[in-house]
Amino acid sequence: MERFRLLSRSRDHGGITALVLGPMGVGKTTFLLSKLVHPLLKRREEVLIWRGGEFCQYGYLEPSRVRLLLSEEYCYRFIDRETGEAVTPLALPHRFGFYEVLYIGYPEHVLKYVKPGFLNVVYCSDNFFIDMLEELNTRPDIRWVSVFHDELQKLAPSNVEGGLWKRNKRLADALADTRKNYVSFYATCHDLSDVDYRVTRKMMYRVYLRDARIPRDSIIRNKMLTHKLRLGEAIVEGSRFKLTRFQPLEKRLNLVVKMRGWVEPAEAVAEDAGEDVEMIDLSLIRGRGGWDDEL
Ligand SMILES: Nc1ncnc2c1ncn2[C@@H]1O[C@H](COP(=O)(O)OP(=O)(O)O)[C@@H](O)[C@H]1O
Ligand SMILES: [Mg+2]
Repeated sequence: MERFRLLSRSRDHGGITALVLGPMGVGKTTFLLSKLVHPLLKRREEVLIWRGGEFCQYGYLEPSRVRLLLSEEYCYRFIDRETGEAVTPLALPHRFGFYEVLYIGYPEHVLKYVKPGFLNVVYCSDNFFIDMLEELNTRPDIRWVSVFHDELQKLAPSNVEGGLWKRNKRLADALADTRKNYVSFYATCHDLSDVDYRVTRKMMYRVYLRDARIPRDSIIRNKMLTHKLRLGEAIVEGSRFKLTRFQPLEKRLNLVVKMRGWVEPAEAVAEDAGEDVEMIDLSLIRGRGGWDDEL
């Protein structure tokens, strides 16, 4: 088995949770993709789930190893930033070489449709994502699963109230159960204080990149240590701390995606999404006030 601590897989220890920290441009996303996703893809047996974001950072990977699972909550328009060309989701495999693109209706469909050996990119709402984590915890098998969430402060921001407070609590509760269910969770944020403490407290490892702020509770006594790191170097802190290195990746695709909820005016959706409209479940439109005569 792998010697790098974040990739060790032991039935005794269960899943791993790690949070990668550092200011903009120090390689957080690169760390996830190059140091974690890339070697896990080579192992082929593990289920890898990446939360899709608007800047499509999985464009650093070989597209034939990427599958897109798009929640029917939204309609999607991908834009190739090299050419400015807009591409509908179902045209993506042909146009860019992604392995395949599927639409999914419910969080439990993620588990049903993921494929090991690929990066399964899931586009969905925050609530859908947390439901999905809960589903993974109660799945009927013990395959290893890794879930990646770049920019965790977008999902679980600190200092929130009401509905968001409750949502963060649900996420923290789900993360408390991932380990024993062989689910690993890897995420990034700029500063530890940007993410709800109930969520950050669940993280077994922290990875500090160059100029990351080392929080007071860290076992690293020299809080200036990260200012000495170079690009591509990182400190992994668990019960001990150690230095590690990661390599840059070459960007293969420069895509941005626009997502829109179906509750927006029906004409705009129909005009924009083209063939997509036919793909979505009619019951979804019915339930969300998509009737022409109601507009
Ligand atoms: N180990 C590395 N060596 C050289 N360049 C790197 C390395 N890691 C990342 N980079 C480059 O730094 C830039 C920012 O990386 P990125 O992962 O997007 O940072 P962040 O997610 O922290 O904002 C990218 O252009 C990337 O290619
Ligand atoms: Mg990033």
